Amino acid sequence: MIGIFDSGFGGLTIYKSIEKALPQYDYVYLGDNARAPYGNRSQEVIYEYAQQAVDFLFNQGCDLVILACNTTSAEALQKLQKEYLPKKYPNKNVLGVIRPLVEEAAIATKKKIVAVMGTRSTVESKSYIRELQKQDSKIKVVQQACPLLVPLIEENWEKRPETKMILKKYIRPLKNYQPDTVILGCTHYGWLQKDIQNYFGKRIKVLDSGKIVSDKLVIYLQKHPQFAQNAMVMPPKRIFFTTESNTRFEASAQKYIGRKIQAKTIELI
Ligand code: DGL
Repeated sequence: MIGIFDSGFGGLTIYKSIEKALPQYDYVYLGDNARAPYGNRSQEVIYEYAQQAVDFLFNQGCDLVILACNTTSAEALQKLQKEYLPKKYPNKNVLGVIRPLVEEAAIATKKKIVAVMGTRSTVESKSYIRELQKQDSKIKVVQQACPLLVPLIEENWEKRPETKMILKKYIRPLKNYQPDTVILGCTHYGWLQKDIQNYFGKRIKVLDSGKIVSDKLVIYLQKHPQFAQNAMVMPPKRIFFTTESNTRFEASAQKYIGRKIQAKTIELI
C-alpha cells in the first residue's frame, strides 16, 4: 500500500496522476486539512506534523509514503529520511516531490535559468535552489513566493479577475529574468497552469508537476519493487483520511480528482 500525504487537498492532484499511472496498488491518502495551509508555518512545526502523518500512514500498512506537498518536501523530507526512518522504520521509505521536478527542470532548461513559484516556506527553505544546483551548478534559480494563491484556489476563485491580477504581479518579476523553464512548486498551482503558461508565454516551459512525479514514481518502483505490492483484492483500495470534516473533504475532493469519494476524519497526534 502506498501512502500519499498533503497538508490538505492540493496533493490530490498528485494522487490523481499517480493513481492513473499505477492503478494496480492500494492507496491511502491523508490530508491534514485542520492544520492547513502549511505554507507560512515554521520548519519545526512542519517537521512535527509530517512525522505524525508518516507514523499514521505507516501504521495503516504503507511501506512507502509520498509527501505530495512541496512545503513538507522542502522542510521535512531530508530529516525524515536521514534521522527518523533509519531509527524507526528501516524498511520503509518516504519520497517527496521536489527531486522529480528538479531533475526534469535541469533537463528542460537550455538557458539554465529556472523560475520557481511556491509557498513562503518552500521559497525560504531554498530547497529548490539547492537541489537544482546539485543537478547543475550553472543553473540560475529565480524564486517567487505566492502566498495568496493557495487560499484563492481553495475558495474556487481561479477564474476571478482578482486572482488573475495577483498572479500577474507574482509572475512579472520572474519574467524579468527571462527563464525558459518554470516549476510550479506548490500542489495547488496546477489549477492556474493555463494562466501561468499564458502570462509567461509559449516559449517558456511550465512543467506539469503531477505527470512528472507519477512518471518518476513508476521508474522508482521498477527499481525498488519491495515498496509496493499489487493489490490483493480487486478493486484496489482507495482510502481517504482528513483531519477536518470528512463531508467537506468529500465535497472538495471531487474538484481535485473528478469523482465522488468517501473520507474518514482522524486526529493526528
Ligand atoms: N500543499 C502545499 C504545497 O505544495 C500547499 C498548501 C499549503 O500551504 O499547505 O506547498
